[in-house]
Amino acid sequence: MPPWKNRQIVLEARPAGPPKLSDFRLVEALAAEPGDGEVLCRTIYLSLDPYMRGRMNEARSYARPVDVGQVMVGGTVGEVIASRYPGVSPGAFVLAYGGWQEYCVVPGWTVRKLDSKQLPLSTALGVVGMPGMTAWVGVLDVGRAKSAETVVVSAAAGAVGSAAGQIAKIHGCRAIGIAGSRDKCDHVVRELGFDACVSYRDDDFFDALRAACPSGIDVYFDNVGGDVLKAVLRLINVGARIAICGLISQYNAAEPSPGPNLGPVLVNRATIRGFIVSDHAGRTPDFLADATRWVQEGRLKYRETLVSGLEKAPEAFLGLFEGKNVGKLLVRVSPDPTR
Ligand SMILES: NC(=O)c1ccc[n+]([C@@H]2O[C@H](COP(=O)([O-])OP(=O)(O)OC[C@H]3O[C@@H](n4cnc5c(N)ncnc54)[C@H](OP(=O)(O)O)[C@@H]3O)[C@@H](O)[C@H]2O)c1
Repeated sequence: MPPWKNRQIVLEARPAGPPKLSDFRLVEALAAEPGDGEVLCRTIYLSLDPYMRGRMNEARSYARPVDVGQVMVGGTVGEVIASRYPGVSPGAFVLAYGGWQEYCVVPGWTVRKLDSKQLPLSTALGVVGMPGMTAWVGVLDVGRAKSAETVVVSAAAGAVGSAAGQIAKIHGCRAIGIAGSRDKCDHVVRELGFDACVSYRDDDFFDALRAACPSGIDVYFDNVGGDVLKAVLRLINVGARIAICGLISQYNAAEPSPGPNLGPVLVNRATIRGFIVSDHAGRTPDFLADATRWVQEGRLKYRETLVSGLEKAPEAFLGLFEGKNVGKLLVRVSPDPTR
């Protein structure tokens, strides 16, 4: 096995507040050889996700933090280069948790083989991957969205939000998006088929949201928390369900921000429920069947913001917190031989 040079991005320092480029460092090592039961993969795509901000903190959350000096964690799609795990052969394309590096060695049982003829490989990190499944679980299992209900989704032009609104539409709901610019709102309505989308950066945000939801809000799929959640709460209906998926507006805060007034939750007997997609792993086969079919039928659309080169990962990751991505943010670490 040739000694492949492996460029990696490690956590250099724990950020206080918003992360900076100097919190990351590019290092070079040699790719390790796979041990018994392991596979060596060349990374094609690296997923960049908001949860990675939490992993940069010391504090333990639902997953353990990345140590300073350790390679940043993350989902990858790659090609198997060498294998000592029966059933996964060199040449196979796999979904893995390979991290921010050009080559990874992972236990063979942790990878999922991908069929590049069925869907583009990159979709395994987005619309038919963890973000898509988060949307599917959040709309159907947590939000329990029913036909003709009004479902509001924040960060609607992002990976999770764009799928959430479309899945609500596939189930006969009215889908209303909230996003950070008029351009994103246009994309959400014209390309993704939401019924309306309003920008939380506009001065008349609350009035526009109220006008877009004349029958009130039955399900709120919250990706951001903060002031957007506060505005939505003023419009919820009796029996509303609120799926707390993410709180990105607070991930870079040095101090916890003051919470919204939860009075409407009480008065309307609404349900607020936080969820972590990995607790719903048993639903994966049903999700993959639905999402693969919907994408192939053109009913579930996806956009990717693709950045080329591992060295661009830190800068692209910072952009997640400034809304620079539309749809799923991915790094193309090496050429995709199937595209
Ligand atoms: N519960 C789970 O299991 C689970 C799983 C996956 C993801 N999540 C959560 O789902 C949310 C979306 O994740 P994603 O991967 O789909 O990311 P994404 O939406 O593709 O990217 C993040 C987007 O968030 C918006 N944003 C950033 N800062 C904001 C702020 N201060 N206020 C309002 N919006 C802000 C930006 O869009 P705008 O331009 O519209 O502001 C940005 O493009 C995140 O909160 C993430 O942590 C949860």
